[in-house]
Formats: sequence, C-alpha cells, structure tokens
Amino acid sequence: MKHKIAIASDHGGFNLKSVIQEQFQDIEWIDLGTDSSESVDWPDFGFAVGNAIESGEADVGILVCGTGIGVSMAANRNRSVRAALCTDVTMARLTRAHNDANVLCLGERITGRATAFDIVEAFLNTKFEGGRHQRRIDKIS
Ligand code: RB5
Repeated sequence: MKHKIAIASDHGGFNLKSVIQEQFQDIEWIDLGTDSSESVDWPDFGFAVGNAIESGEADVGILVCGTGIGVSMAANRNRSVRAALCTDVTMARLTRAHNDANVLCLGERITGRATAFDIVEAFLNTKFEGGRHQRRIDKIS
C-alpha cells in the first residue's frame, strides 16, 4: 500500500528522523520539522502530525523525540490519531494488526537505528485485522 506519511520530531529525535527519511527514500515524506538539533517543544510536532492525519493530508505519521513519550502524548490528544510508541518489531506489528495505529512514535535515545528501521518496516507493512479489533477501536473513536 502506498502511504502519504507525515514525519516530525523535536530536537531529541531530529537525527533519527533524518536517517529514517534517508533509509526509506521511495516514500514521499511530508516533513513537518524540526529542521535542526536546536531546542524546540515536542507538543508542537505531535500536534502537527495529528493535524495532518485529521485533515487527510497524511494517512500515516511517524514521530520521534528523545523517548517517544512526549510526542505520543501530544499526538493522542487528537481524536483522529491512534499513536503507538514502539520499541520493538513485535509492538509495531501488533499495534497495526490490533489497534490500527496510524502514528508510530520512536525514541532516539531509546532505540538504535537498525531496530528503528525494522520497526518502521513492520509498521508500514502490517495490515489491520479488523473483526473484534474494530469493535474495540470503535469504543475509543
Ligand atoms: C527533550 O529533551 C526531550 O524531553 C524530548 O525529546 C522527549 O524525550 C520528551 O518526551
């Protein structure tokens, strides 16, 4: 499936955001910042990706901060967002299959690059299973 993917980070996630974009060059990234390692506020970037999902500009988002926690909190304030902080491939696969997560959150200070790339692959290539899981999604919509 071809995704429109919004990506953003704060300064704590800037390096991992950049290498993810380099690694997956066939994706047309909607880059919502930040553009350097200069200190910024993570809520601004979580909200930016949330807005892109809500408006339909993007159908998937990737957010990176130091831990992945701040951006996931901010993104999940938006009712259109189901953001999941993943630290391994199994979490990425299951949050797509069971939670229909539409935003992947990563922590640059937590997860190494090679694992982060595998997590992105798993997140983008796993389909939502629907069925009983849809009923549960509906309860938080
Ligand atoms: C920034 O120093 C750091 O607090 C931020 O990237 C993130 O880890 C917040 O959850």
